[in-house]
Amino acid sequence: MKRYWKYVKPYLPAFIIGPLLMIVEVVGEVILPKFMANIINVGAAQHNVPYIIGMGAAMVVTAFLMMAGGIGGAYFAAKAAISFASDLRSDVFDKVQKFSFSNLDQFSTGSLVTRLTNDITQVQNVINMALRMMLRAPGMLIGALFMAFMMNAQLALVVLVVIPILVLLIALVIRTAFPRFDYMQKKLDALNSTIQEMLTNVRVIKSFVRGEYEEGRFAKANEELKKSSLDAFKVVILNMPIMMLLMNATTLGIVWFGGKQILAGTMPVGDLTAFTTYIVQILMSLMMLAMVLLQSSRALASIHRITEVLDTQVNLTDEHCAFPEKTVDSGNVEFKDVTFRYYKENKEAVLSHVSFRAESGQTIGIIGGTGSGKTTLVQMIPRLYDVDQGEVLVDGVNVKDYSLKHLRDGVGMVLQKNVLFSGTIMENLMWGDANASKEALLEASKAAQADPFVSTFTDGYLTELGQGGVNVSGGQKQRLCIARALLKKPRILILDDSTSAVDTATEAKIRESFGSTLKDTTKIIIAQRITSVMEADQILVLDEGELVGMGSHEALLKECEPYQEIYYSQMDKEVSAS
Ligand SMILES: Nc1ncnc2c1ncn2[C@@H]1O[C@H](COP(=O)(O)OP(=O)(O)O)[C@@H](O)[C@H]1O
Ligand SMILES: [Mg+2]
Repeated sequence: MKRYWKYVKPYLPAFIIGPLLMIVEVVGEVILPKFMANIINVGAAQHNVPYIIGMGAAMVVTAFLMMAGGIGGAYFAAKAAISFASDLRSDVFDKVQKFSFSNLDQFSTGSLVTRLTNDITQVQNVINMALRMMLRAPGMLIGALFMAFMMNAQLALVVLVVIPILVLLIALVIRTAFPRFDYMQKKLDALNSTIQEMLTNVRVIKSFVRGEYEEGRFAKANEELKKSSLDAFKVVILNMPIMMLLMNATTLGIVWFGGKQILAGTMPVGDLTAFTTYIVQILMSLMMLAMVLLQSSRALASIHRITEVLDTQVNLTDEHCAFPEKTVDSGNVEFKDVTFRYYKENKEAVLSHVSFRAESGQTIGIIGGTGSGKTTLVQMIPRLYDVDQGEVLVDGVNVKDYSLKHLRDGVGMVLQKNVLFSGTIMENLMWGDANASKEALLEASKAAQADPFVSTFTDGYLTELGQGGVNVSGGQKQRLCIARALLKKPRILILDDSTSAVDTATEAKIRESFGSTLKDTTKIIIAQRITSVMEADQILVLDEGELVGMGSHEALLKECEPYQEIYYSQMDKEVSAS
């Protein structure tokens, strides 16, 4: 809980003023019935009109003060709660931004979205309610109790019978409701995850005609949420009529006993109306407290889920790097006996004992079946994941000794699942370098063979891309992603299967332009087609995380069996295709 103080501190005045202003409302609520009783007992009984007007005026003033207090209290409570939530949300977001790839693997995107939105809103609502009720409910309880006893101690004893019953009832409701709310929140999480997954993959779902299946999945999650919500609210719904019954029974009791006292002449008539109001206030305040407790138990589940994100140790940082100022200069890459596994408890390594060297300016090709560890291998260079054993050196320095910023600035990477963002093509390319000149932009675009198709668009580089770059073809998207990486002028360029959707002729042009514009950049190219890497200085052949061959195309063709297999299977296809 200590960590949340930070979100209260800057808004402490609002956190204090809010509940205090609610007190004004409570005081008003408690004295209004007394004024009313006076009007009946004194004013009406004695036909004293000026007294009635005076009391009436006092009631109007009190009502206005109450309104001001109520509005002010609600305003400051809302301000405190909203500010708290907004700061918290921004911290959780920052934390998620700092997450390493392996941290992100732990949470589903849907769950993170729920935590950032619904869970924080839940907490915000409870803070808002608590600030308004925190002093109001106990204040009203104590005030009304005090007034009731002052007015007629004997009659007030009735309340003492009712209160224990009510408290017992409330305790019972909370005990039954809490686990149900907890369960409901989990079902909500499941529903949100389903929606999230469906929306992000809607194109795949449609193309596989899995709409009906997804609808079924959604219907199931929705039904479960409905059931669990009904289960939870049943308790709350039941709560209300029982309390009302109790309240009416009490009123009846008061009227019964009070009526007797009035007939005996020991109690003025006006006191009875005031008294009933106080009793209602007492019971109401207890119900309010019950609501706050009920909501808090719901928010507690949310707080727990938020804390889980905030408490996650970011397992990849550059805090203790040896050379925070060092930048990547020449772009040599060396793997020394690198072993890596995604799940640390697994014995199967995704990469085992991989060693190779790439000199500055060389082109390195990587070939291997799907799942052989190609993507994993290159992700070690910009430290998207950290090796388990061995080391990765860039310019002879362990990548862990660079600051992440400098290391990643030096490495341009086009991911296998590359994405573009909504915005213009130019804005997307400028991601690589926010200060790039028009000439540099054009040069990178030309080298990636993006310029030819961009210039056919009416708006050229100012063409708006949809989210994820939906309005360009797969091959065009890949070329834009390459251009974006080139604009960074990286010392090491990694292309992870980035030309798979580009036709062979265009791909050859891209390779050609790399030869002239990226002479000094180390190029690491993962490809499916052997033709894409045939001219590389060195080709690495991966098989189930092991390096089974390394050398030039000619050398590998002579002595590396797995390479020969891939080569001949691809040649066969080409022959049969032509
Ligand atoms: N984020 C991840 N979490 C767990 N396992 C992963 C992850 N990414 C890849 N893998 C596993 O690691 C192996 C190698 O994957 P990858 O490097 O993507 O292969 P390639 O790029 O050669 O197709 C595969 O068995 C894959 O299932
Ligand atoms: Mg891959």
